[in-house]
Order: sequence, then structure tokens, then C-alpha cells
Amino acid sequence: MSARETVLITGGAGFIGSHLTNALLAEGFKVRILDTLQPPTHNGKPPPWLNPRAELIRGDVRKRRDWERALPGVSYVFHLAGYMDFRPDFSTYTATNTESTALLYEVIAAKKHRIKKIVAASSQAIYGEGKYRCKKHGIVYPPTRSESDLRNGRYEVRCPRGRESLALLPSAESDGLFPITPYGISKRGLEETLLCLGLYLGIPSVALRYTIVHGPHQTFRHFYSGALRQFAVMALSGRPIEMHEDGKQLRDFVHVSDLVRAHLTVLYDRRADFRIFNVGSGVPHTVRELAETVTDEVGIPPRFELPGLYRVKTARHSTVDISHLSKLGWRPKKTLRDNVRDYVTWIRNYPEAKRFLIETLRAMRRSRIIRR
Ligand SMILES: NC(=O)c1ccc[n+]([C@@H]2O[C@H](COP(=O)([O-])OP(=O)(O)OC[C@H]3O[C@@H](n4cnc5c(N)ncnc54)[C@H](O)[C@@H]3O)[C@@H](O)[C@H]2O)c1
Repeated sequence: MSARETVLITGGAGFIGSHLTNALLAEGFKVRILDTLQPPTHNGKPPPWLNPRAELIRGDVRKRRDWERALPGVSYVFHLAGYMDFRPDFSTYTATNTESTALLYEVIAAKKHRIKKIVAASSQAIYGEGKYRCKKHGIVYPPTRSESDLRNGRYEVRCPRGRESLALLPSAESDGLFPITPYGISKRGLEETLLCLGLYLGIPSVALRYTIVHGPHQTFRHFYSGALRQFAVMALSGRPIEMHEDGKQLRDFVHVSDLVRAHLTVLYDRRADFRIFNVGSGVPHTVRELAETVTDEVGIPPRFELPGLYRVKTARHSTVDISHLSKLGWRPKKTLRDNVRDYVTWIRNYPEAKRFLIETLRAMRRSRIIRR
């Protein structure tokens, strides 16, 4: 591997892609970015954090011609362009996340490009409600919670076989996958396409299942870019923090700098080839802990509201086992406090984030993604 080789990052103008761009440039690689720069993440213009040392190709991973423009001379591909959020255009998830992955390998094969490794962004969303232990029935994978349970404040998942209470277990890479959203389904499709075609064409390929990523550059234009954006913007506007459900949901939050190091680990280590890895902090926190850390960091008294809101098709808890990637020498270094501090420091510079938050919260309620 020579550091002067070219790396292609799809979605490189986005939150995670922009940090990965900086890290790979610092490693000495040439970086090319393929990105639409379109909403919902962007407004058609390059964001201020786009590194000018990277070559930018405006293009769409759903289009063959754009892959054909982006791939010549490339040695490594990081496929991060993705469609997230909770929007109702369901087919866009499959087209952007799954079909684009097939198209990447298709173009590589057709043009005989000599790609040495492909790393793609997957998500913990593919675990759905995740894995639990039932004292009576052993390991279970509960289905998504019913509307009537959520409406009546019965938030905890129950054993699907007898409604017994359950103990949460961290999801491991080999666990059953039961995605409950079009996004999760499309990422499962991405992983299967990636490993199948990677093996078929003999191109080392790796999927990274990120948990919830925190850090500067995270778009505030999405319908939903995580609780941290919502809590930080509310706290900075002097508003009480509104939490969904009862605030006791467990989540794994990983700092973007730890996540970027995970990409470098799998890039350099051949033991990662043709495998899938969870990338998280390994330490679950409640949503309420996140809210408390935000008010503390913003320096306002903790004022929280639990108005009985819930988001449909959302896991009650999610936590992952990170031991596989740890065996390759990678360790998360940042704490929840670091995540919140870095994000709050950054988002303070974007007062327009408040207007976007109000608009997106209204839109999510209008389209019944958030319900009461
Ligand atoms: N942020 C998280 O917490 C998180 C968690 C799990 C997985 N992921 C995955 O990580 C990847 C990056 O996410 P992010 O948080 O940086 O999001 P982001 O929206 O900030 O970045 C995504 C980038 O992809 C670009 N893009 C979208 N559709 C495209 C297309 N059709 N062609 C070319 N470019 C396109 C966008 O313009 C944007 O710059 C995504 O695949 C996402 O599913 C993110």
C-alpha cells in the first residue's frame, strides 16, 4: 500500500465522510469525493468543512455514468453515500444504499478496475429490536413494538413467546438480523451485496455497522439526525428538552473520531477482509443521560419534558458488542461527555439549526413519524 494512492469516498462531503477525508489526507492518500451535494444533507453547495485538498466530483451513486467518472485510478473505495432519515420515499433507501453497491461492483468488473479494498457504511439499524434473554425461553429477537403498546406507555419489549420481561444483550455481528425500517432493510441488502460480490470478484470488502455517530459537521437539515441535534438545539434556545417515550431507552453513541480510526484499522489490516464489524462505544447510555450531559455542557438548569411522544419503528434499546473490531487493536477513546462537548461547540456556530429543527419536528408530526 502506497500512501500516494487514490481513495474514493462516496458521500465524502457529509458528516462522517468529511472527517474520513481529513484523516486519509493526513495519512498521505489522495482523496476523491463523489457526492451529490443535494438535500436533505446539503443545499447544492459544498459545505464549509469540505477539505479543499480533496478532488470533488458532483455525482450520484445511483448512476452508472457517475461511478464510471469517479473510479478510474482509484485503489480503495469507502462507500459512505447513503439515504437515511424517516421519509416515506421507501424505494430511495434501496436505490441509494443497496443498488448503488451492486452498481459499484458492476462498473469495477465491466471496466476491469484494480480496486484493492472496499469499505462500506452499514448500520446497527439492521438489528431491529435487537437481542434479549428471556428467563423462560432463552435468547429471543422480539418483533417491533405494537402501536397500542407505545400509545399506552408500555415501552419495554416483551418475550414474543409469552410476554415475559426481558434482559437486553448487546448485538453481535453473527446475531439474527430483523430490520424494522426501509433504511435497515437497505443496509442489510448493502452488506449482502458487498460480501457476495466482493468474494465473487476477489475484492477484499468490509462492512462497518455504525451505532449512533456524534461529532461536528453532522447535518441539521435531516428530518432526524439523532437526539443530540435535537437536545443541543433545544438547550441552546433555552427550551426544555423534550424526550420520546420515558427517556430510559439505551443507546450506544460513538464519536466520529473513533469511527474514523475504525475505518483506518480495517483499511490497513488484512484480517478485516470479507468481514462485518460493529463500531460503537460499547457503553450504552440512556437518552436521559444524553439530555443531562447536554444541559450541563450548555450550562443551563436541567429542564426535561416527557409528553408521551414516540417514534414508530424505532428500537426500544440498542447496544452492540464491539469485541471483534477490538481484536484488531481498535479501541474507542472518547466519552459521552467528549461527544456532547464537541458537538455543542460546533453547533453554536449555526443558529439556523433552530429553524431547521422546528420545521423538521413539525414535518415529522405531520407525517405521523412522531406520534403521541
Ligand atoms: N450518522 C450516523 O449516526 C450513522 C449511523 C449509522 C450509519 N450511518 C451511515 O453512514 C453514512 C454516512 O452518514 P452521515 O451521517 O455522514 O450522513 P450525511 O448525510 O452527513 O452524509 C451522507 C453524504 O452522502 C451524500 N449522498 C447522499 N445520497 C447520495 C447519492 N445518491 N450519491 C452521492 N452522494 C450522496 C450526501 O450528499 C452526503 O454528503 C451513511 O451511509 C449512513 O447510512 C450513519
